[in-house]
Amino acid sequence: MQLESIEIENYRVFRHAKLTSLPRLVTLVGANGSGKSTLFDMFSFLKDALAFSVGKAVARRGGWKELKSRGQEGPIRIEIKFRESGGRLATYELTIGEANGRIVVEREILKFRRGQTGKPWHFVDFSRGEGTAITNEEQYGKKDAKEKRDKYTLDEPDVLAIKGLGQFKDFRVVAEFRSLIENWQISDFHIVEARPATEEGYSEHLSTRGDNLAQVAQYLHTYHRERFDAILDAMTRRVPGIAAVDAKPTEDGRLVLRFQDGSFKDPFIARFVSDGTIKMFAYLVLLHDPRPFPLLAIEEPENQLYPKLLMDLAEEFRAYAQRGGQVFVSTHSPDFLNALELEEIYCLYKKDGFTTISHASDSENLRALFDGGDLPGYLWKQGVFEGVNR
Ligand SMILES: Nc1ncnc2c1ncn2[C@@H]1O[C@H](COP(=O)(O)OP(=O)(O)O)[C@@H](O)[C@H]1O
Ligand SMILES: [Mg+2]
Repeated sequence: MQLESIEIENYRVFRHAKLTSLPRLVTLVGANGSGKSTLFDMFSFLKDALAFSVGKAVARRGGWKELKSRGQEGPIRIEIKFRESGGRLATYELTIGEANGRIVVEREILKFRRGQTGKPWHFVDFSRGEGTAITNEEQYGKKDAKEKRDKYTLDEPDVLAIKGLGQFKDFRVVAEFRSLIENWQISDFHIVEARPATEEGYSEHLSTRGDNLAQVAQYLHTYHRERFDAILDAMTRRVPGIAAVDAKPTEDGRLVLRFQDGSFKDPFIARFVSDGTIKMFAYLVLLHDPRPFPLLAIEEPENQLYPKLLMDLAEEFRAYAQRGGQVFVSTHSPDFLNALELEEIYCLYKKDGFTTISHASDSENLRALFDGGDLPGYLWKQGVFEGVNR
């Protein structure tokens, strides 16, 4: 499954913004306040809306007045096109408004793109808690198939139909989209928290802030030894001076990570190694996850990392994306950009209070310079990226 495009209207700094032709590794560049984190937050918003309700997701973000673009009446509209596992392009469209002080779903549609024959089927089509859903999804695309639909009423006008209907396993596309959003993950490491903690515990996936790093390392060490060894191997190759890393179980069952510097006899325990070492280790743990997140966002991976490592890291992100998880990265780092293709770069540019997004590969100028051998990070630093740094 893969996201193909995202269109946002009236969501904070995005009065109208669009990302199209999304690759598996998507990188966002743009000045502070241009909306990189806001784009990630839009996915968290959908995740909250699924877990609770749209009203709750709006309330968590300061309420309707704060969330909708300043000076605009709304509605907030989010449109996501994705390729489902069967290979067909589907569109999820959500329009949110406010009526008499209440948040309502004005329209929620999940449909397939119009095929060569006939109209697109609206699998889900709801407005303010009332609507219809297809009951014979498996017939779609078959010769002479006619859609069958039933009417449903949701509990509240701010509940998503894909939440209410997800329990019907017949709605395969709905369930797939839902699980994509539910498993959306942002990684925003805070080194202090990511330094291997001392508590015992058990975690399969690295958390947003990386505070369960030791537990995940322990999990990989115990149940996915080959992954753990691959991580340690990458560490010794990537971090200068690190000759070996080992994981020493303590008597009370914890795992102490020890980083061996080639110049000294005794290893350093995690508390005393550099920020960059911990961060690299944390990324490797995140990216060697045996079960990748279907959608993973990484906030500014460059902080604390030695510039040369960013090239390798871009490779790791790409490998993860190929393994199954689509990756979104926000960055300010020319070194990171240097490792990318133009197709992988989207530029956010804020003008008169609102942000537009352009795809680096759409610029003929950039294309010509890139084909002539200039690297994207260099071009970005020079201010050549349209809409960025102006
Ligand atoms: N309702 C709104 N309307 C317009 N702009 C908004 C609204 N809410 C927040 N913003 C602006 O959105 C920006 C948020 O930027 P952010 O996503 O944190 O950027 P980045 O991660 O790229 O640094 C800020 O500049 C803030 O002023
Ligand atoms: Mg940010």
